[in-house]
Amino acid sequence: VRDSILLYEGKAKKLFETDDPQIIRVKYLDQATALNGVRKDIVLGKALLNNQITALVFEQFKLKGIQSHFVEKISKHEQLVERLEMIPLEVVVRNVSAGSFAKRLAISEGQTLEFPVLEFYYKDDTLDDPIINDDHVKILKIATEQEITTIKHEAYKINQTLIELFKKIDIRLIDFKIEFGRRKDGTILLADEITPDTCRLWDEKTNDHLDKDVYRRNIGDIVPVYQEVLDRLEQRFN
Ligand code: C5P
Repeated sequence: VRDSILLYEGKAKKLFETDDPQIIRVKYLDQATALNGVRKDIVLGKALLNNQITALVFEQFKLKGIQSHFVEKISKHEQLVERLEMIPLEVVVRNVSAGSFAKRLAISEGQTLEFPVLEFYYKDDTLDDPIINDDHVKILKIATEQEITTIKHEAYKINQTLIELFKKIDIRLIDFKIEFGRRKDGTILLADEITPDTCRLWDEKTNDHLDKDVYRRNIGDIVPVYQEVLDRLEQRFN
């Protein structure tokens, strides 16, 4: 397994082939990046935490009828997932103003939004992942109208499920990013990861950031913060 073929190297994960053409091995990396990879640091212990957090979240999703690419966690840093044709979209859902939304629209961070706001970003490093709308998704042939409908429906459902999941561990889900892929038969499936790298999570009582903003904003060490999220999840759900 150790010298299997590398399929893809991302900012926080490496993907390897397995003996089964339908299954790939994801290896989480002790790496953190910001500004689309311009800032990059080694963060010992992060891989193990994100591997466990995303596995636990996807397992909970399965219990609630939300399918994902997740198959099983096979080691501290690795999990097996279904091989999909990835759709180059970052689907962001926001419940509270923060980050690029707060900045772009001058809506102060922390304001609860009247309804969940869904955004698409075109996953393209050379373009710096621009925000795009449904027409752009269609004209670029990223996804069909029908697929867009499915993706939005799933994203809102995932938002509700995640809100409830994090509420049980006294965390407020501010926003998050998810990605989808296609099976050979055309079904759309939730893929990638759901971790404090891809969600904004605020402590319900203190409003402390329990997510990657701690790294992005240089306000501390993310390892104890991610560990806190995992500890709470494990206490509640294992
Ligand atoms: O930066 P922005 O406010 O647009 O991020 C919205 C949400 O999407 C945040 O939870 C952030 O962690 C996540 N995100 C991500 N990967 C990106 C951009 C944003 O996981 N490339």
